[in-house]
Amino acid sequence: MAKISYVDGLYLHYKDSKIHIEDRGYHFGDAVYEVVMFNEGIFFDYNEHIKRLLRSLKSLDIELPISTNSLKIIINNVIKKNRIVFGSVYIQVSRGVAQRNHSYKNLTLKPIIIISTTEKNKDYLNNFVGVSAITLNDNRWARPDIKTTQLLPNILAKTIADKKSAYEAIFIDQYDYITEGSSSNIWIVNYDNQLITRNLDGQILSGITRNSVKKCAMKNNIKVLERKFSKHELLTAKEVFLTSATSFVTPIVKIDNSSINNGLIGELSCSLRELYLKAMKSSN
Ligand code: PDD
Repeated sequence: MAKISYVDGLYLHYKDSKIHIEDRGYHFGDAVYEVVMFNEGIFFDYNEHIKRLLRSLKSLDIELPISTNSLKIIINNVIKKNRIVFGSVYIQVSRGVAQRNHSYKNLTLKPIIIISTTEKNKDYLNNFVGVSAITLNDNRWARPDIKTTQLLPNILAKTIADKKSAYEAIFIDQYDYITEGSSSNIWIVNYDNQLITRNLDGQILSGITRNSVKKCAMKNNIKVLERKFSKHELLTAKEVFLTSATSFVTPIVKIDNSSINNGLIGELSCSLRELYLKAMKSSN
């Protein structure tokens, strides 16, 4: 387990890494976050993650209290202090600490940055299996495009999946279209060999991995259709996979009670995973 984290200006041992009880992130989920993978000194899509962090902050009217250069130095320091070669880094910025009050209009607030890192086993990079998923109604707030720590519907959904030994919960909107996973974007390949993922219509997070996989596909002359697709299309797809920073491209071979591709990992899912991981070897 990583021993040192960064909390509001200090590098602290894990047991001392605490935030104030009146941090608005704790009270209200009034905070944003990013998760970035790294391997041997190379971050996976670092700049894109930081750009999204800044977008999320802007959407919530929070200002990053340090420069992005300083942020990168701190992130590298945390990784170095923990001597981690392969893992993920978690960055969270909350609006700050103040006596509990829903409105922040007249509050003097200094955003609080916390950074921690988690080591991952290298097997995680190379070995993968087809996973199962369940579907659930999407009951999140209307701005899932902002990456906030306010994740109650997501964690409840993931726990329901977990209790059913499924890896992911896939959200379905009120019109029976797939939005995204509780912590991932969802893709299908249909029997016309069309590669489809939902368009960025504000109902999903603009996944950084989603965008990189899209670029990998396009570079290899694989067309990506960005459009809504229904639960029926999902369950009758030839291949289904999810993308996220920590799961890369992970094939889904069972959803609810339906097998996808007879429970076998699809070819395109495999190729895209390879292409993605190859691209990340020379990422930033
Ligand atoms: N989750 N959609 C949701 C709701 C997510 O929480 C995530 C990522 C994604 C994929 O985004 P990206 O490719 O940028 O990781 C889509 C992270 C990994 C998490 O919460 O741990």
